[in-house]
Amino acid sequence: MMDIGLEDRNENQSDTTTIKLHKGEPDETMIPFNLLEKATQKVFADEKGRHQRTYWTYGEDEGNTELRHQVINFLRHTCAIATLSYENIFITNGTSAILDQICTMFLRAGDTILVECPTYSYGLQIFRDHHLHIISYSVDDDGLVIDSTFINDVLERTKPKMIYIVPTFQNPAGVTMSHHRREQLVQLSLKYHFLIVADEVYHHLDYEKQDHNSNGIDHDRLVEHPKSFAAYHAAGTVVALHSFSKILTPALRLGFACASHEHVNAMGRYGLIHSGGGANPFVSGIVARTLEDGSLKKFIDEKLCVEYGKRMRVLYNELMQIFGEKHITCRRPSGGYFLWVKFNDAGVDCDQLLIIARKYGVTFSPGRLFAHDEEAKAKLAHCLRLCFTIVDCEQLRVGCARLKQAFEEYKNITL
Ligand SMILES: Cc1ncc(COP(=O)(O)O)c(C=O)c1O
Repeated sequence: MMDIGLEDRNENQSDTTTIKLHKGEPDETMIPFNLLEKATQKVFADEKGRHQRTYWTYGEDEGNTELRHQVINFLRHTCAIATLSYENIFITNGTSAILDQICTMFLRAGDTILVECPTYSYGLQIFRDHHLHIISYSVDDDGLVIDSTFINDVLERTKPKMIYIVPTFQNPAGVTMSHHRREQLVQLSLKYHFLIVADEVYHHLDYEKQDHNSNGIDHDRLVEHPKSFAAYHAAGTVVALHSFSKILTPALRLGFACASHEHVNAMGRYGLIHSGGGANPFVSGIVARTLEDGSLKKFIDEKLCVEYGKRMRVLYNELMQIFGEKHITCRRPSGGYFLWVKFNDAGVDCDQLLIIARKYGVTFSPGRLFAHDEEAKAKLAHCLRLCFTIVDCEQLRVGCARLKQAFEEYKNITL
């Protein structure tokens, strides 16, 4: 059967009636224009901005030094990591760019890498571009499964050079890797000599942590904020990737990698980076100012996490109410962007369901997109991903009702 292809990010902008829950983007109404405007004005107005040559010409290879210091401060407050120095931080043009750079620098065509099943679909596209040999292993509610089969049949036998994971509020499954498994994976990386690339773009979007201060909290669900893989930089086998795409806007094309000094130095010596003078110096100046005065952290805590947390709960409750446990299994995530829905009837084909759903004015991402080979695609065919950040609560409710209508029609035709 033909696969439904990867979403086209610029597809059909004029279609304003379809509720597009297939996307993985921030809602435009949640972009902090005022905060960015103020920060930009500061770069032009303040002494430091005008006279910081690095904002106005080619910058430093590892990234703007002031931003690197601000990032350390940010991680100290948001992730309680005190061991990082600015020399552990490499400023990037976003996670996609650094993923591509890591593949070019540290891997060769034909090298084996391991990804989660399911995993980030565009990540797969990057790995395919580099002609890597991709294998995958399951995730459960505690993230990538680390059992004797994983160690004996996968690590021992295939010797992957790199393991790519989205450990926190995973895209697409919404799961978060347990602390124990994080520790285990780092130990295994030392024993089996593979690089862990931990894509932590959703790390700061933790909605259960926010519940702590609000009314109507569900105390049983409160969980420790997961430890960032940035905390394992000293192991020398870990690169943690963060991005400003999900906490400010993707249009900035800015992020950072946290790694050992050796990795950071190597990344700075990469030809493309060296020739271009590091990642976006001017945008670095703007973002540094949103960190310097705490306005970004405040925005994340008081706006993003509050509103997106609300949307997440609305979509989850609505889904469970409309479809019920009889038809679907869906684990409520504690952060990020996505709900992962599995139809209990493994015969449901979400590619076909999507064709019908489009007719009813709602979209989602079918499970097959998040798998790298035919066997894995077949396993995920009865799953789908819904993005809850892209539209408001009312639209989520309507989207959910449309999805149910589409499912009813699908059932009539096929089951
Ligand atoms: C897991 C994951 N990694 C990376 C990205 C892209 O990040 P960036 O905009 O920093 O390239 C996304 C965006 O959807 C994502 O979900």
